[in-house]
Amino acid sequence: MVNRERNNQLLETLKLPENSECADCGLPDPDWASCKVGVFICLQCSGVHRSFTESGKVKSIQLDNWEDERLVQFMIGNGNLKAKKKYEAFVPPFYYRPHANDCIALKEQWIRAKYQREEFMSNKVTMHTTADREGILYKRGRDRKGFQERRFVLSRSEGLLKYYTKDNGKGPKGIIPIQSLNVMFQGEKIGHQHGLEITYMKDGQTRNIFVYHDSAEEIVAWYNALREARLHYLKTTYPQASEAELIPKITRNYSKVGYMEKTGPKKKEAFKKRWFNLDSGGRKLLYYKNPLDAFEKGGIFIGSKERGYAVQEGLPQGLKGNNYDCGIIIQTPAREFVLTCENVKEQREWLKALRGVVSQPMTKEDIIEEANFRRKRPK
Ligand SMILES: *[C@@H]1O[C@H](CO)[C@@H](O)[C@H](O)[C@H]1NC(C)=O
Ligand SMILES: [Zn+2]
Repeated sequence: MVNRERNNQLLETLKLPENSECADCGLPDPDWASCKVGVFICLQCSGVHRSFTESGKVKSIQLDNWEDERLVQFMIGNGNLKAKKKYEAFVPPFYYRPHANDCIALKEQWIRAKYQREEFMSNKVTMHTTADREGILYKRGRDRKGFQERRFVLSRSEGLLKYYTKDNGKGPKGIIPIQSLNVMFQGEKIGHQHGLEITYMKDGQTRNIFVYHDSAEEIVAWYNALREARLHYLKTTYPQASEAELIPKITRNYSKVGYMEKTGPKKKEAFKKRWFNLDSGGRKLLYYKNPLDAFEKGGIFIGSKERGYAVQEGLPQGLKGNNYDCGIIIQTPAREFVLTCENVKEQREWLKALRGVVSQPMTKEDIIEEANFRRKRPK
């Protein structure tokens, strides 16, 4: 009653500048606060905090009552910077710190790991030692639609992730080299919010496998264990590189996925609906008959503008006759690819993502990969 207005004013002054982004996911202008750990957070992250915080201590800055002077003083004395120093003191380098556009499983586990399980307040926590990992995951059958229980075994020293059926005597059913492994959350596509897509190179093609676990903690632990194994591999392979250089190479996410239609090299072929994954870091646009296919149907290497690649909006003259209409032309030194999108919004997003890749200069590795990619593929 008396202090309400004053307290709200005090809180307003707290919003700058270290508290201008959510302490947990980085979303700008967080409107909520946890008066237990002293952080300013976004609405979605506040829901996770509320699940392990005494009632009344996760509050909206605008809508809740801040009459309790002690809570205001606590927020003044703490804030995002101080909390970060305390709760993120020992985050291992491979551990993935989620962003606002990442899935809720990643954000939820990051918040629980930080404040509820207090995993990063000291470097003693055994979970982050260099142990190998073993456990059950549900894996989608290659040619069957259902998911089956498989035992996965990650061995850093061998540089392998293997999986077994119940009949252990038969040896591993699959062997995945950490060298070419990539892993990302693709919940929507897989149809399970804890769905992971794991890719690796097999006979010159990208093999995709899809797994999930019902427990968010378990699947995020697997995700980070695979990242740890990848960082270990990168450090041994590139001993001269700094950790800061290697961290962005641990795993990559697709920058855009979705359906487009595609015609063939003569541009007279009927347009076919395909699922596309754009791996910007790997400079590859791969397409599939179905989103959960094990192997791609084809792919386009996306080089740089310096090396003759370009992305244009629209369709070549006189071309039409498909269900989609918003065209994209991808020019490569070898040929022109013509794609169409379902609507203008999709077209804009694809153009932006593809142009992002073309504007990136190519590294030495990219140039080798470009040559490999062409050699593998008949026109
Ligand atoms: C990758 O992208 C998907 C879909 O946009 C998202 O759900 C997921 O959280 C992203 N992040 C990671 C680290 O896989
Ligand atoms: Zn947030």
